[in-house]
Amino acid sequence: KKILFASSETQPLIKTGGLADVAGSLPIALTELGQDVRIIMPNYASIKDCDPGRYLCTVRVNNADVNLLETRLPNSNVIIWLVDYPAFFGHPGNPYNDESGNPWPDIGDRFALFCRIVVEVAMDRAYLDWKPDVVHCNDWQTGLVPALLSLEEYRPSTVFTIHNMAYQGIFPSNTYTLLNLPGQLWHTDGLEYHGMLSFIKGGLSYSDWITTVSPTYAQEIQTPEFGYGLEGLLGHRQHTLSGIINGIDNNAWDPQTDPKIAQTYSNRTLSKKVINKTALQARLGLPVTPELPMLSLIGRLVDQKGIDLVLSCLKEMAGMPLQFVLLGSGDTSIQVRLQDFARLYPDKISITIGYDENLAHQIEAGADMFLMPSRFEPCGLNQMYSQRYGTLPIVRKTGGLADTVVDTLPQSLANGSASGFVFKDAVPGALMETIKRALVLHANRPLWQKLQRNAMGKDFSWENSANQYLALYREI
Ligand code: ADP
Ligand code: GLC
Repeated sequence: KKILFASSETQPLIKTGGLADVAGSLPIALTELGQDVRIIMPNYASIKDCDPGRYLCTVRVNNADVNLLETRLPNSNVIIWLVDYPAFFGHPGNPYNDESGNPWPDIGDRFALFCRIVVEVAMDRAYLDWKPDVVHCNDWQTGLVPALLSLEEYRPSTVFTIHNMAYQGIFPSNTYTLLNLPGQLWHTDGLEYHGMLSFIKGGLSYSDWITTVSPTYAQEIQTPEFGYGLEGLLGHRQHTLSGIINGIDNNAWDPQTDPKIAQTYSNRTLSKKVINKTALQARLGLPVTPELPMLSLIGRLVDQKGIDLVLSCLKEMAGMPLQFVLLGSGDTSIQVRLQDFARLYPDKISITIGYDENLAHQIEAGADMFLMPSRFEPCGLNQMYSQRYGTLPIVRKTGGLADTVVDTLPQSLANGSASGFVFKDAVPGALMETIKRALVLHANRPLWQKLQRNAMGKDFSWENSANQYLALYREI
């Protein structure tokens, strides 16, 4: 099959979160299954780690002349088509925000243009001599693609993957006119959402199939708690909606070969893992104490991630024999409150505000436990990285966390599936209790190592999930 994979971010070229990890690895896994996959993404000024794009052609959409460039995903043969329009994508910053973290004021125009180009390529009107069988769209930034394609004859099939329902691309109604979008799509079963323009509804209403990045999240979004008012629409689509869990990049996240960490190790050389802890303590200026349990967290500092629960526990945690290490960036108020704790307890708590891939790997390798108390989590990747690194995750039972972490209970211990700690209620007490439960088991060295080996032995590779996508492409 020929698959055009549309994404607003792709690792390693540009990344703000898990979508980039998926866009950087699923196309490779599909290629390994013999499929012909091309990625299409805007040509941002901040793209790094790839060859400069070779000019292919110019396509005219909505009175704009847009260039298409071609490059490749590093360490693979997967072709990336870059949508080059400097007036929109030529500024420093990330795909959604400028360098100071403010959302681009013209973000609707940007992704509408991107979607129009995806449609031209999908219909082979860019004359690249390649017409996809399937256009695989991801998140609201690509939502107009299924909508616009629905107006075409002989169009490819469309899959729309929801990575996060919390971001929907909603704009005032006059944006619809300003963007020059076709009138036929403006109705409540189309792109209109309570009188506003909703990009995500384009994907939800017009795609041939909807996927979410975990089976549990596919169920959750059909309820008011997770559906943001779209649960009715999603419920209607339950027969063309399914969840396929994300895999992880097993090459980039491998404790046996990871060049970013102080000491590589495997499930047979677990005692070496502690060298990563002491190196991390030294790097972060914490007391170098190999025996002290180290808890960690990496992620976007937003409500989704349940950082408020962690903040409510930090004072009590600081009084316990442990260290806590956090790397993240996001809401300023969360950042400030975290940094206050680090100032109060410099021997116990280390907070790094920023985005740092090397440090992320070093934390995964060095810590004993990884906190992910998310309020919702469509899939989540760090809990899988953590298991691969023998760093046991403490997670809330939601979305992909529920699907990938097995709580440590007598039965799961007995059958060898226990790989972390799971709690249900989004309240600080439940998180605190689970941390204490984990600490008790951590003191039992043989038992802890058994859990680490369970976790490290799990298969989170993309192959299985890529096969499920392929079966879906064949079905639609
Ligand atoms: P989300 O996509 O909601 O942010 P995921 O768990 O799916 O959550 O993916 C987050 C990805 O971004 C992971 O690969 C994680 O390691 C990475 N990441 C998040 N914040 C940072 C940071 N501050 N520094 C380095 N990597 C980060
Ligand atoms: C989103 C979700 C996250 C998921 C990622 C990749 O950003 O928040 O849970 O892992 O997309 O699918």
